[in-house]
Formats: sequence, structure tokens, C-alpha cells
Amino acid sequence: MEKDALIAMLNNDLADEHAAIIRYLVHGWMEGEDTPLGSSLISISREEMWHMHWLGMIIGRLGGEIVLTPNPYPHDPSSRETLLHSYIAYEEKLIPHYKEEAEKVDDPQIRRVLQREGWESAVHAKKFARKLKKLKGEEKKGLPQGDGELPKSLIDTLQNEVVDKYTEMLRHMAASWRFQSQEGTIGWEMMDQAMAKMKQLAHFAEDVAEDGGTPKFESGKIDPAQDLKSAIEKAISDVHTARMRHLKLKNDGEFRKHEGLMINLDLTVQQEEYHEEELRSFKDRG
Ligand SMILES: [Fe+2]
Ligand SMILES: [Fe+2]
Repeated sequence: MEKDALIAMLNNDLADEHAAIIRYLVHGWMEGEDTPLGSSLISISREEMWHMHWLGMIIGRLGGEIVLTPNPYPHDPSSRETLLHSYIAYEEKLIPHYKEEAEKVDDPQIRRVLQREGWESAVHAKKFARKLKKLKGEEKKGLPQGDGELPKSLIDTLQNEVVDKYTEMLRHMAASWRFQSQEGTIGWEMMDQAMAKMKQLAHFAEDVAEDGGTPKFESGKIDPAQDLKSAIEKAISDVHTARMRHLKLKNDGEFRKHEGLMINLDLTVQQEEYHEEELRSFKDRG
């Protein structure tokens, strides 16, 4: 298979996995992490994160540009039942899809990854089918109901934070895939930072979802960095801007009324300071 076609194929798979992560996360958060359906959705979404990551690593290694826009995830949001049917259909479609792709590829590692994504999709379809079987009556016909308690201004603030952190995280992750084999372990360390950003993003998004809103997984503009040095520069400026904004947010009257939000915001600010220092140390190393 020709390299450009291979990269395009893998990017399309990555965009499918990206879509699955968001769908299961959003739904899982709406159900609540402490509910059986919610925790199972979030657990499956973590496996989709591996899937996306393996593809990102391969595309990065091939020197390809990573596609950071998710594909659409077709789903019928009428009830839990229709949602689970949509998830089963999505996962089942991926089983032959990955199998066919694996057969077209010569590289044994890429073939293994595609095969695994196929059989793990089969497991996901089975798990969703089991969840569907366990749902009864009202629960089956209904949808998660949010608390609807947070004021609109706070929801807007949280949604803006979701957009910003999501954008920052994607940019960071793409750089860690793209420059994975440069300058020792910097790519690896950037992935470690990206994982913390994912957690920070979750802190903001969970509150939106628990309140009944759909977290805004919309990224801002992501210009892919052309080299590691400019990726690090951009990452420093991103994390610095975010920290300045979050320091201001710590004095926001509405924010201060919510203890859980404040605890996570404090943690985020500390991590952002740590990340900025660490990124600056990469510059000295390079
Ligand atoms: Fe997957
Ligand atoms: Fe899956």
C-alpha cells in the first residue's frame, strides 16, 4: 500500500476512534461516573483512547499529519435503548472494516494494531448488547436527566474552558505523536502532559454533563507545528495563557460557590505551572 494512502486510511480510523471517545465520554458523564452504565461507558471510552493513540503513533512515525477532527458518530438520541443500538451498530461495522484494512497492509505492527482494534470493537459491541439487555422499563425508554442547577453564565464559562483545554490537548497530543522519536524522551513527556490535560478537560466537562448539557468538544484552530521547537514554544504559550485565565477564574464569584470546581481548578493551576516549567526545561535541553 502506498504511503500517502496508508496515512489517509489510518487518519480516517483515528477520526472514527476520536468520535467514539467523545460519544461514550459525553454519555458516560451524563449518566454519572458512579452509575453502572456511566462507568461502563467511560471505561470503554478509555479503550477507544488507546485505539486513537496507537493510530496516532503509527501516523506520526510515518511522518504524516494527524487529522484532529473527529468523524461524525451517527446515533439516535431518543432513549438509552436507541443510543445503545447505535453504539452496537457502530462497533459492529468496525469489525469487518478493520479486518479488511489489516489484510491490505504489509507492515506487521500496523496489521496487528488494526486487527486488535477490530477484535476489541467486537468486545465493545458485546458489552453494549449486555448493557442493553440489563436495562428495564423507564430506564430503557428514558435518558439521563441533568440537575439543571447551574446558572447559564457558569455553564458558558465551563464550556469555554472545555473548548480551550480540548484544543490545547489535541495540539499537544499531535506534537507528541509527530515528534515521538526526536530529542530523547521529549515526545513521551509531552504525552504525559497531554494526559493531564485530558483530566483537566474532564473536570470542566463533567460538571456541564452532570447538569444536563453536552460538553462542547469543539476545537479551536489547530495549526500543526512543523518542528519540535515551535511545538514547544506554542505549548508554553498555550499553557501560560490558560493558567492566567484560570488564576482569574479563581476569583470568580459564581465559581467560588462550588467547592468541587474550586478544588479541581486549584489542581489545574498547579499542574499548569509545573507543565510550563517542564516545557521550558525541554528548550534548554534541546
Ligand atoms: Fe475503538
Ligand atoms: Fe469500540
